[in-house]
Amino acid sequence: MPWFWWWRRNKAAGPSASVAAKSRPLFVPGRETVAAGASHYVVPHDHHETNRLDLQHSAMHEYFGTHVFAPVADPQRILDVAGGTGVWAKALKEQFPQAQVTSMDVTVPLDVQEKGPPSAYTFVQANALEPLPFPDAAFDYVHMRFMFTAMPVTMWPQVVRELVRVTTPGGWIELVEAYVPRDAGPAWTQLEMWANQLFALRDIDASLASQVGKFLRDAGATQVHERSDALPLGAYGGRVGQLMALDMASVYRLAMPAFVQGLGLDQRRIEATLSQADAEVQRGEYQGILPIYIAFGQRPNRA
Ligand SMILES: C[S@@+](CC[C@H](N)C(=O)[O-])C[C@H]1O[C@@H](n2cnc3c(N)ncnc32)[C@H](O)[C@@H]1O
Repeated sequence: MPWFWWWRRNKAAGPSASVAAKSRPLFVPGRETVAAGASHYVVPHDHHETNRLDLQHSAMHEYFGTHVFAPVADPQRILDVAGGTGVWAKALKEQFPQAQVTSMDVTVPLDVQEKGPPSAYTFVQANALEPLPFPDAAFDYVHMRFMFTAMPVTMWPQVVRELVRVTTPGGWIELVEAYVPRDAGPAWTQLEMWANQLFALRDIDASLASQVGKFLRDAGATQVHERSDALPLGAYGGRVGQLMALDMASVYRLAMPAFVQGLGLDQRRIEATLSQADAEVQRGEYQGILPIYIAFGQRPNRA
């Protein structure tokens, strides 16, 4: 695949007629694509978000002890859909040095913007809500993580079908999703309510992340395995808990402009709620969690 695929920016970032956000366009810095309707993700594409995603990746690895849940032995062609900063792609290249790893996202990672095409993996800019720009059976391991806040309700079946289509027969498709923090205290509950209101305005139902196994089965995958877990939020969860508390407080802070624009909330009210959320975590009164939903399945071998 030629390296200049990553530069397909204008083509990839165009509005998707079928899934253009119905709600008022939001201005999200670095994500002009949101305004154009190509993506429903409302967190700015900037250095704060880059650092947050890399930190979240570390916390996930520390908690689960692996980057890979499907029983892949020797994958040769790996695809990460909505790969964000490319951190998972880089980790997979280290784990499977012989593999060709591709990371696809609607926005170009900042280090790729700044330094050019990465050496460890191929970056492709494309919209996961449209047909994927890969031929059938192009990869033997396809992964998508944390797309649930950018996935319109009606798009789940089509997107997962595309993941199955680009997987080779006998290859594995893996979905790792989450929900917003729960049981972390009243301020966090308020943030959950606002987040769900904002999601609803953008045709998103975050609770559908819990159905990743069903989406895989409905898309024709076999040998589907499902697992749910919960990352701790706060000091009670040790280092992972501390990292996740920071991660989740950061993502809500980064989404503040979207709360103001989308829900018409007063910024000072959101800031006060965020400060209260920080205090709830610091006091250690609650044992908050971030629910995680994992499913993997195989594209069937057909004669
Ligand atoms: C929460 S981040 C997860 C990034 C990465 N999967 C990880 O686990 O670190 C969500 C990512 O989805 C990307 N995204 C949102 N909508 C998208 C779309 N329609 N097509 C492709 N990528 C999209 C965002 O740009 C962002 O990088």
